[in-house]
Amino acid sequence: MDKKFMLRAVDLALNGKGKVSPNPLVGSVIVKNGSIIGEGFHGFYGDSHAEINALNSCTESPKGGTLYCNLEPCSTSYPGKINPPCCEAIIKAEIKRVVIGQIDPNPMVSGAGINILKAAGIGVITGIELEECLKLNTGFNCVMLNNRPFVHLKWAQTLDGRIASKNGESKWITNLDCRIDSHLHRSNSDSILVGTKTLINDNPTLTTRYGFAPSPRPIILSKEITGTSNLEVCKNNPLYLNYSHNTNPPISKILEDIKKEGLNSVFVEGGASLITSFLNSNLWDRITVYTAPRILGEGLNSVGDLNILHPDSSITFSRTEIRIIDNHIIFNGWNKGSFLCLQD
Ligand SMILES: NC(=O)c1ccc[n+]([C@@H]2O[C@H](COP(=O)([O-])OP(=O)(O)OC[C@H]3O[C@@H](n4cnc5c(N)ncnc54)[C@H](OP(=O)(O)O)[C@@H]3O)[C@@H](O)[C@H]2O)c1
Repeated sequence: MDKKFMLRAVDLALNGKGKVSPNPLVGSVIVKNGSIIGEGFHGFYGDSHAEINALNSCTESPKGGTLYCNLEPCSTSYPGKINPPCCEAIIKAEIKRVVIGQIDPNPMVSGAGINILKAAGIGVITGIELEECLKLNTGFNCVMLNNRPFVHLKWAQTLDGRIASKNGESKWITNLDCRIDSHLHRSNSDSILVGTKTLINDNPTLTTRYGFAPSPRPIILSKEITGTSNLEVCKNNPLYLNYSHNTNPPISKILEDIKKEGLNSVFVEGGASLITSFLNSNLWDRITVYTAPRILGEGLNSVGDLNILHPDSSITFSRTEIRIIDNHIIFNGWNKGSFLCLQD
């Protein structure tokens, strides 16, 4: 039963997708005598927390009930924090048992909520449907533990590793199924980034389509591109980072600036120069590569120089997955150095 109610909390949390960052997605369920009597989720940044919304929605007194939450309830107030601590409200409501998916990854408060609840005589268990709870908040977890957004790199290539023909044409290298799959990833990311050459050459919209939502916020790296530009991406409230044209900004600086905007994750869709910079920085968490059954010969390589001199030193992964759809290979790999790398 605990698993079932936790999965319901995870489902509820998804209602905040695209609206709560930099906060995590959180859902909560209150159960009494085996039935749900209250449900809530954190709906947007600044909204009350899921536990409070669940308590307020109860159809009968929550006294003696069990509260389920995918993330450890918050315990402290600090300057800038909008909502009062949820633990206080849970204790006041005389909840008897609290079931938690993931312990708060924020090192400043991790475990503090659990201690407060236990000190008040409430039974607490953790780790229920942990994998689902971790996947829900990949970006938030990454920011809390790595102090930077979750970075998902993606490109589409031919069998001989080309992402564009020698005259720069890249539409389309892979089939519709691959493009649909990549739109799911777009919808799971707070922001989306492409290199300036891709932005100018291809003029992509970078929106989420094929039935997925929401669209991530586009990021523009060049100060040459302003709000008056005719580029499609400028219609979608892009984040202009205004770096100088002379040298490429370090990836660490780009990620710092994305985080400052409250964006917990970034989906990087090429081109080769930008992808190569990310790989060289080792500031990435996941790679998705779509490979089509085509050969282009001369063209643009998917990845440039990584200064690797021996196959033993090449980039390998902590975990890999391969799917084949209509003879296209969909590869996913996770960085060995990336913690909590779970993501759908
Ligand atoms: N098949 C695919 O999946 C796919 C995906 C995307 C693109 N493409 C193709 O790839 C081609 C463009 O790729 P590209 O390698 O020539 O260029 P790119 O990676 O799209 O853009 C590179 C430019 O981005 C800017 N930039 C800012 N910070 C950077 C950093 N830290 N590292 C690298 N670049 C940074 C620089 O522009 P400034 O010097 O102006 O600041 C740089 O010249 C196009 O033909 C496009 O169609 C294919």
